[in-house]
Amino acid sequence: MDLLEAVRGRRSIRRFLKKPVPRELIEKLIKECTWAPSAMNTQPWYFYVVEGEARDKLVEVCSKAFYSILPRLRELGFPERHIEFIKWYFFTFGNAPVIIVVYTDRIKEEVYQIGAIESCAAAIQNLLLLAYAEGLGTCWMTGPLWIEDEINRFLGVEDKVLVALITVGYPEKIPRPPPRREPFIKWVTEVPK
Ligand SMILES: Cc1cc2nc3c(=O)[nH]c(=O)nc-3n(C[C@H](O)[C@H](O)[C@H](O)COP(=O)(O)O)c2cc1C
Repeated sequence: MDLLEAVRGRRSIRRFLKKPVPRELIEKLIKECTWAPSAMNTQPWYFYVVEGEARDKLVEVCSKAFYSILPRLRELGFPERHIEFIKWYFFTFGNAPVIIVVYTDRIKEEVYQIGAIESCAAAIQNLLLLAYAEGLGTCWMTGPLWIEDEINRFLGVEDKVLVALITVGYPEKIPRPPPRREPFIKWVTEVPK
């Protein structure tokens, strides 16, 4: 697939078919996505692939935890319609058969911590594009960071930073692309005063 076609054509998929994804394919996506650049070549990513019974249990954990974040969502001024959507996603994960949970190292030095998270973001974007090229849909999610403790407890993860959850599966519904704004671009050619 042409790179520009992949960059433009990939969408966040939030409704999946109940069709299993071969393990080899998931393993291939994860291995290939780590060709991403990483801060000081630390390759600071950890991928937990949750499927089957564990996937259902994780969704249950998230749906129970949803009520603990509800007051915070209201406080932040989320419209009710949006809250209903978040609730639906926490309760179903769009029927995605696979959820990849991405962690990075916990680091004291802030600059290094940011570098680690950005490195994971580069790998995640690679994974999304590679998945798209294989006919798979994905949704990159940081909403579940609100319930990081519950997710860590479920996976038995300690001393790591939760970066994102990625739902993976064959798309049931492909949404229309949200329009892009013109990016802020400023060419700096003279020494700023
Ligand atoms: C860092 C990050 C966090 C995101 N978190 C969520 C999320 O928690 N839930 C969700 O449904 N989508 C989430 N998204 C997907 C965005 O909503 C989506 O990328 C955006 O609306 C543009 O749509 P597109 O991906 O189809 O181009 C996230 C995307 C990124 C990059």
